[in-house]
Amino acid sequence: MSLQGKRILLGVTGSIAAYKSAHLTRLLIKSGAEVQLIMSASALDFITPLTLTTLSKRPVYSDFFDKKSGEWNNHVELGLWADLFIVAPLSANTLAKFANGLCDNLLSATYLSARCPVMLAPAMDLDMYQHPAVRDNLRKAQSFGNILLDAESGELASGLVGQGRMMEPEHILMQIERFFHHKADFKGKKVMITLGPTQEAIDPVRFISNHSSGKMGLALANSFKSRGAEVYLISGPISIAIDSADFYLTQVKSASEMYQAAEAIHGSMDICVFAAAVADYAPAKIAEEKIKKDDSEMSIQLKKNVDIAFELGKIKKLGQIHVGFALETTNEEAYAKAKLDKKNFDMIVLNSATEKGAGFQHDTNSVRIFRPDGKSLDSGLVSKVQVAELILDEIKNIPVWI
Ligand code: CTP
Repeated sequence: MSLQGKRILLGVTGSIAAYKSAHLTRLLIKSGAEVQLIMSASALDFITPLTLTTLSKRPVYSDFFDKKSGEWNNHVELGLWADLFIVAPLSANTLAKFANGLCDNLLSATYLSARCPVMLAPAMDLDMYQHPAVRDNLRKAQSFGNILLDAESGELASGLVGQGRMMEPEHILMQIERFFHHKADFKGKKVMITLGPTQEAIDPVRFISNHSSGKMGLALANSFKSRGAEVYLISGPISIAIDSADFYLTQVKSASEMYQAAEAIHGSMDICVFAAAVADYAPAKIAEEKIKKDDSEMSIQLKKNVDIAFELGKIKKLGQIHVGFALETTNEEAYAKAKLDKKNFDMIVLNSATEKGAGFQHDTNSVRIFRPDGKSLDSGLVSKVQVAELILDEIKNIPVWI
């Protein structure tokens, strides 16, 4: 896919991963883009401007004034020139500036002046990336409309293993290509996504639930939205904030509430994705008052919940696409295929319950996608954003897709 004629501003900040920006520059130039680099002062400690100037065939800017020529590097002009501004790697420090509107160098001034979409590819050490201050700044930066290219998992410069590596340049290139070329391939489609866990009340203060974070469902929602779809979310209780300006959002607690909300809109949907981890059972009776303990053991009688995907699968209309998820610990493939069949899915996404970094709570996932024709596809361990993109691409391969 060519990026011919696209103008890309590439910001580089102080991080060990700065060496990868040379490779990213090369990839972007090779695919036809014009690349203008802006480096923060601390990025200069990690990679020389000479390398990046040579690869981009343009002078690299790092200050408001070019010390040699005395020329003024106009951040407003730079911001207006670009079709896309990407900062890779993005350090915690520059992220904090972006999230809070600080402006003390050419890079942050250009960020504040840019009218084009902005992509952020953070690179940090394990604990730094998970620090509440960083998480908060990432959320804040995303709430401004910036696109997060989430850090990948693997060995970090510190020797620790986990999430924090800057997304690989090849993956960044893929995201940029998708951004320019697939932008509207779901335009006109209505998509319903169930996500998160359900909570089944035992009494006014207790419930049965599971560890689903809603991250996979939300990654899908963002992908559909960015590719032009109208997205209807039916979400169980999750802690990640959902921007209600971007989606039609219905918040529910129990499986039966989720079913009612899904059933109400199902008929007008083109695509339904069942990403929720719906509790299969609920207490047969909800105690009106808080249950008090006594000296004996206690047990709770459970009743079966409605199977939302199964019920809606029975009334699936011609041309409608249903996508299901499965999380298994044994006989993974056989169970997933049985669910594909039983629930009338057009595709099922099998989450690995055993692979490190995949499944509930993680930002990464590893899935295998099955289609009714027996074909399957492995994603490998990648970010949930990439899994979402892959699922959307696969939906387009379903024969009923028009
Ligand atoms: N699902 C649903 N309603 C339920 C249970 C599951 O809509 N009450 C959907 C899930 O959102 C998922 C698919 O069905 O897309 C499979 O869910 P899973 O929990 O793996 O399967 P179950 O049918 O509940 O089987 P089991 O828990 O026994 O593996």
